[in-house]
Amino acid sequence: MKHTTISIAVIELDHYTELSLPDKLLVDEAFEATERAFAPYSQFKVGAAVRLTNGTIVTGNNQENASYPSGLCAERVALFYASSQFPGQAVDAIAVVAKTSLTELTNPVTPCGSCRQVMAEYEQLNGQKIRVIMASPSGKTMIVEGIAALLPLAFQADYLKKIKTN
Ligand code: THU
Repeated sequence: MKHTTISIAVIELDHYTELSLPDKLLVDEAFEATERAFAPYSQFKVGAAVRLTNGTIVTGNNQENASYPSGLCAERVALFYASSQFPGQAVDAIAVVAKTSLTELTNPVTPCGSCRQVMAEYEQLNGQKIRVIMASPSGKTMIVEGIAALLPLAFQADYLKKIKTN
């Protein structure tokens, strides 16, 4: 038997204004996107901004539905839109932020498991690590370089290539 420990590296900042200018701009865009969220049920507005390697920024926000599971998270709205409009353009970074009047968000909101899986797939597809910048309205920020830090041992698209058809 072998025991393996997987450790992750997280960068923490007191305030997102400490970020490089392009990354701070991405966070600003994500905050702006929260204003356009459709979150009448949770009142929890999430914004995401995706930067592609060609410099294009695509934003998204959570879109809820009266049939709750039919809604979609901000990260996937942004990533799917980016992929639908700019197929093959690698994702360089994604900023994720949230705003709500229901509670004080002192710590950054981290992406849900399904969004992590989607990020992992685009990362594998493009062979380029995605920087994830998570910032809170208070300014506190966490950064990870690559999705393995958020989703170790992710399901790999490669698994499906080996399916036997007989
Ligand atoms: N939400 C996101 O947009 N991203 C996440 O990573 C987690 C949750 C949304 C879904 C729902 O509209 C609201 O936040 C409350 O769960």
